[in-house]
Amino acid sequence: MVERGRETPFTGQLLNMRLKNALSIALVSSLLIVPATAQDVEWGSDAPPAIRNAYQTSDPELQELLKQMTWKEKCGQLTQYAGILTGPQPIKPELFERIGTGEIGSVLSVSEVERCRRMQDEALKTRLKIPLVFAFDVIHGYRTIFPIPISEAASFDPELAAEAARISATEAAAAGVNWTFAPMVDLARDPRWGRVIEGAGEDPYMGAVFAEARVKGFQGEDLALPDTLAACAKHLGGYGAAEGGRDYDTSEISEMTLREAYFPPFEAAMEAGAVTVMPSFQETAGRPSHANTYLLEDVLRDEWGFPGLVVSDYGAIEELLNHRIAGERSDAGMLALDAQVDMDMMSDIYRKLPRTPQTEEAVDRAVMRVLKLKKELGLFEDPYRYLDAEREKATVLKPEFRKAARRAAARGAVLLENRDSVLPLSLEGVKRVAVIGPLADDARSALGEWNLVGRAEDTISPLQGLEENFSEQGIEVVHAQGCPSWEEDTSKIDEAVALAEGSDLVILVLGEPYDATGESRNRTRIGLPGSQLELLRKVTATGKPAVTVLANGRPLTLEEVKEVSPTLLVFWHAGIEAGNGLYDILVGREAIGGKLPMTFPRNVGQVPLYYNRKTSGRPPVPGQEKYRVDYHDSPLTPLYEFGYGLSTSTFDLSTPKVVSPPGVWPLKLQVTLTNTGDRAADQVPQLYLSDEVRSVTPPRKELKGFKRVSLDPGKSRIVTFSVGRDDLSFVGLDMKRTFEPGWYTVAIGFSSSAEPNFRLRLNESGFQERAEI
Ligand code: BGC
Repeated sequence: MVERGRETPFTGQLLNMRLKNALSIALVSSLLIVPATAQDVEWGSDAPPAIRNAYQTSDPELQELLKQMTWKEKCGQLTQYAGILTGPQPIKPELFERIGTGEIGSVLSVSEVERCRRMQDEALKTRLKIPLVFAFDVIHGYRTIFPIPISEAASFDPELAAEAARISATEAAAAGVNWTFAPMVDLARDPRWGRVIEGAGEDPYMGAVFAEARVKGFQGEDLALPDTLAACAKHLGGYGAAEGGRDYDTSEISEMTLREAYFPPFEAAMEAGAVTVMPSFQETAGRPSHANTYLLEDVLRDEWGFPGLVVSDYGAIEELLNHRIAGERSDAGMLALDAQVDMDMMSDIYRKLPRTPQTEEAVDRAVMRVLKLKKELGLFEDPYRYLDAEREKATVLKPEFRKAARRAAARGAVLLENRDSVLPLSLEGVKRVAVIGPLADDARSALGEWNLVGRAEDTISPLQGLEENFSEQGIEVVHAQGCPSWEEDTSKIDEAVALAEGSDLVILVLGEPYDATGESRNRTRIGLPGSQLELLRKVTATGKPAVTVLANGRPLTLEEVKEVSPTLLVFWHAGIEAGNGLYDILVGREAIGGKLPMTFPRNVGQVPLYYNRKTSGRPPVPGQEKYRVDYHDSPLTPLYEFGYGLSTSTFDLSTPKVVSPPGVWPLKLQVTLTNTGDRAADQVPQLYLSDEVRSVTPPRKELKGFKRVSLDPGKSRIVTFSVGRDDLSFVGLDMKRTFEPGWYTVAIGFSSSAEPNFRLRLNESGFQERAEI
């Protein structure tokens, strides 16, 4: 959150932008009598709109280009043509025609060098030779598909997410893509919502950490390098709060909650330098995001100082008609333009914007942002920079990319139960393994829902990975689907049971098919679909040692699954190397150390249920359900809490120590983590703080740091958490971030249920005093 006159982590960036802009303004207005200096020009929301607009349009070369553009060419630059243009289908002649007449500034969902090159050739035949920018949803991979983003979040390893984004950018950029619509940084507190697969879960701190990692991964060191993509932080704002978990439906959400919970990942993406932003489809407080000037101007542009491009979501400008705040297409266009939505994806409304003094200024500003993006990507310098067929061939599906995807599949896994210590597997005496369940032989689902060019034939399904790897050990693998993944059908369960009975070990791969998750795939019941629960019951009733592996895209309700599965693993939709990654964790080649980035409720009736909700005036009291915040027919607690996940070894955590001196920020807390078991394993110490009393009701506790650590048996590692004053700030009643001195409870442990360690008194200048609980 940026506030003028206060040091925040963002202040440095803003200052740099101000300096840069001041200098470029000085250049643009070279006729100014007194050259402006950095100190002379005041930016941000205090600056008059004219200066703010100039700030957005301060590149002299681009200004010159803008001057030469006709109205039609300008509107063309604001138009993104949308059509799925990958694979064998021919490019529509209409598209070439429109590119050739300068009516299109960007094409969506197009990739492959040869195809992009043909379009770029066409664009360069136009009068002003403005290159196209090719956009594509590279969400968790291009051809090398990584695990779905919620799995990456479950790794509690932001470096892994950064690496996945880096590789995805390298691969997609080699295939002609310039711009990805990722990362999706929407906070998600409702597992019914299908799009929870795309984000980092329910916590604003986690969301911010992963947003930063992914933006940096996609954008690399310099956007103009041929292996980087422009990132897009989406979907601003409060998209994940859709009522009932219904994608696109209204979010009823207070400004305080927006700022406290939903904005931090966006702010982190801004801080990391994301050059584009996409608003959300739904409405909040009477205003759809694409016409929400509070969101897109007051907050995004003025408070956060975002200088980049805002692209609409797919057809969302036209949807302002359905939202009934516009009666005509042109009115919808004017509303979006007025809210500073710069590029129109798919609605084709901006292409025919009416020319008025009001639109003229707004269109110029938007065009400058489009041109600026193209310039930053190096497209003016070399429009063919990303169009090298040799590079494409040498880059796509590189073996080292697959290796990284395999490791990522393993690192996202979360062990929910290991009651008989079956994992990692001991293969002694195992001759025959039964791999059972509808998700076992489903390579398509392993790729996840967001997958445009990933191919099932490139993908190692769970079954294939287990078959290949076990056969190398001389172990036979037999398979039965048991039942379909979605429909009710029990006719093949007996066959699966017989197979289990004739085997030494059973691996059940159950879960959600890919198309039960993702955009518009909301569910009202989030248990195992179809007849899978019955299959699980009957197979586990054989008494054979069994591992239940879940290939899912959201938190599921697992009460009975837990009961009948002594060994239970969340494996998500784990990408192109799913099967190999699964084998690695089952046999202990990779440690299982993931944690849940979202609460797993007991039942849908508890939703929304998230760990950092507020305390009530009537908090729960064990054994006293009435007149307390509780349910009459269900415990209040979740089945598995945020941050939960078992390790395959035992770990000891020392009592934390404050290691920073009193009266100094940041506060530093240290713990020693020791692997007390007999095998190498991973564990994730997590720091939770809770502000005891303050002027705005605090969350029960808040994650403020975590670190995934790998340790050999008997070894220890010191983990230091560093907490700045701003990390403890909160949104006050005046909607501004504030810090209040007082007592904080500290809890460091292995999940959000960590027991409190001690209390600390903190004031403006830092740590003052420690007290036992
Ligand atoms: C989604 C966006 C996506 C866009 C383009 C929309 O339906 O909401 O997240 O970037 O399509 O594919």
